[in-house]
Amino acid sequence: MDLIIAKDYSDLSRRASRIIASEIKKKPDLVLGLATGSTPLGTYQELVRLYREEGLDFSRVVTFNLDEYYGISMDNPQSYHYYMFENFFKHVNIKPENIHIPDGMAGDVEAHCKKYDEEIAKYGGIDLQLLGIGQNGHIGFNEPGDELLTATHLTNLTQNTIEANSRFFKSMDEVPKQAITMGLGTIIQAKKIVLLASGKNKAEIMAELLDENAVSTKNPASFLLLHKDVTVIIDEEAAKIYRQMTQSPDSSKKLHVREVFLWPS
Ligand code: F6R
Repeated sequence: MDLIIAKDYSDLSRRASRIIASEIKKKPDLVLGLATGSTPLGTYQELVRLYREEGLDFSRVVTFNLDEYYGISMDNPQSYHYYMFENFFKHVNIKPENIHIPDGMAGDVEAHCKKYDEEIAKYGGIDLQLLGIGQNGHIGFNEPGDELLTATHLTNLTQNTIEANSRFFKSMDEVPKQAITMGLGTIIQAKKIVLLASGKNKAEIMAELLDENAVSTKNPASFLLLHKDVTVIIDEEAAKIYRQMTQSPDSSKKLHVREVFLWPS
């Protein structure tokens, strides 16, 4: 796991967008897995800037989003469809037919999920998967539990996630309780993974992840330890507890973390 500690959120966003841009330049028909939420917003803004100012070309890029709320239609401003078009897709030259997001109104959810995985496989799997992380360690909406599912599926969101998501809704009642999410298997099969975390709310889970020596379904992100090409980019606030941990005299650095860039604190 390569660790980059960025100076702040803008620095984190610039670094993430540069990695994505460089992969697109290497492979113009890149299959890009995308996340929503607050964390990647700056990365999308940077990618839009690279498109406008430096001609970064999305015309052959294929995207698959990690998840979508269940029971919410595409035109609902709270949907991840809406988020993706407003914050990214409508500002770049990506082709609509190359965009894939689970359908929150799918009638036969099981068939829809199966088709989503088949579609990913048809493109040869995901080349680069962008991830955020929940305070409870969820990636996509693979929530901590006794087991984690490998394929795309409908899942119940935990109370912790419902509360975290409620900041985008007028009332708790409106916050969706279920989502369609890629499974851990699909995520872990991506050739390259970039995980972003920003702000003090993520400091605890990031310290736990970076200090982890075992994988556990209680922390879905811990499965990223099994992957050989993961870059974690966090800002100073999200790195705060990790910094304290590794600076203490009796700390032993974890072998799975390779610090490639640490902004001087
Ligand atoms: C969103 C997703 C989630 C978020 C996570 C963090 O598509 O898959 O796992 O990445 O909930 O959300 P933020 O960035 O809002 O803190």
